[in-house]
Amino acid sequence: MHDLVVENARLYPMVDGIEPSAASSFAVDDGRISAIPAKAPGRVMLDARQKVVLPGFVDCHTHALYAGDRMDEHAQRLAGATYADIARSGGGIMSTVRAVRAATRAELVEQTLPRLDALAGEGVTTIEIKSGYGLSVEAELKMLAAIGDVGGETGQRVVPTFLGAHTVPAETGADDYVDLVCDEMLPEVASTRLSQVCDIYIESIAFDTRQARRILARACELGLAVRAHTDQLANIGGTRLAASFGALSCDHLEHTGIDDIDMMHNCGTVAVLLPTAFYFLRDTQKPPIEALRRAGVPMAIGSDLNPGSAPVASLLTALHMATTIFGLTAGEALLGVTRHAAQAAGFGGVLGSLAPGRLADFCVWDIPAPEFLVYQLGGLRPDDIFIEGIRQ
Ligand code: NIG
Ligand code: FE
Repeated sequence: MHDLVVENARLYPMVDGIEPSAASSFAVDDGRISAIPAKAPGRVMLDARQKVVLPGFVDCHTHALYAGDRMDEHAQRLAGATYADIARSGGGIMSTVRAVRAATRAELVEQTLPRLDALAGEGVTTIEIKSGYGLSVEAELKMLAAIGDVGGETGQRVVPTFLGAHTVPAETGADDYVDLVCDEMLPEVASTRLSQVCDIYIESIAFDTRQARRILARACELGLAVRAHTDQLANIGGTRLAASFGALSCDHLEHTGIDDIDMMHNCGTVAVLLPTAFYFLRDTQKPPIEALRRAGVPMAIGSDLNPGSAPVASLLTALHMATTIFGLTAGEALLGVTRHAAQAAGFGGVLGSLAPGRLADFCVWDIPAPEFLVYQLGGLRPDDIFIEGIRQ
């Protein structure tokens, strides 16, 4: 007897591509997929009535925990200012840093939960959330603790990422801040295990490759996995550098070149595409999709949910934009929010596809085929959501 058996499903395991499984049933035991097709009845039986069953979506890149908003900056950008102009004049990330430092841990949780609810309603069962709006030891730890709290409040799996190196805070010189990240923040994060992944923004308006190398080396030395924001506004060598440290992913990639792509391929680094930020910043330089495709670099898609460059609490919108704006196929885009997103978030082989041994996070959709999710924009929600075999 299995814990749960789902039957009469049109099952799309997302293991190799978008092909349906020949099986129409599967079993769950101890929170994991145990058999496809099911070999025995379940204590709980779910009749999927020929609906589509897909893995739960993984939103692998968000800054979803923050206080306040940056509506004023959106208006400034509509009037012609650029993201970099606003950052250099003391706004941008620093504006949210001020709001987050002033907020309590409970206020951060309260303001974040509605955004996570919106993502959960679209079938996002795992969400990665970065710190990076604290930029002091105390405020970064407060953010990571609050990210842990939201994980306890929502049924979703929340994956915290330490992004102390998001930008240089106004009160500190860049090298002194890198010292603080390497000597105090990273050891504290590693010893408390508040996060197991270190991210960094390598960019003309953030950290250069010399500073990034120190942070990536220290994170690896402490046993953290690494990821990086690279090549968003310019190519300063961040992708090559991060990949050489075995980065799980490099994210943004609008200005990524062929050498970077070869390095990502050789190092097993996932390319995370963030079309919502591209759209909000009214960027014109698209990531090199065809070259990534040809090199066989796995592509993932994140919502990038954040108050500045992507106030978008919708992974399905990012999925849609990845096809209409960046030119991914429906199959590539769906792998980008399932199997490849799981790999980018450090859950390769554990989440993001439905196969024996994987965690049983899945959604039941009343749609004609998975491609419908990249076709219709808005108004889509799954009929049923299961996380580790438990109905939400
Ligand atoms: O991924 N580029 C850096 N980080 C975010 C934006 C954060 C912000 O503007 O608050 C991003 O787009
Ligand atoms: Fe980001």
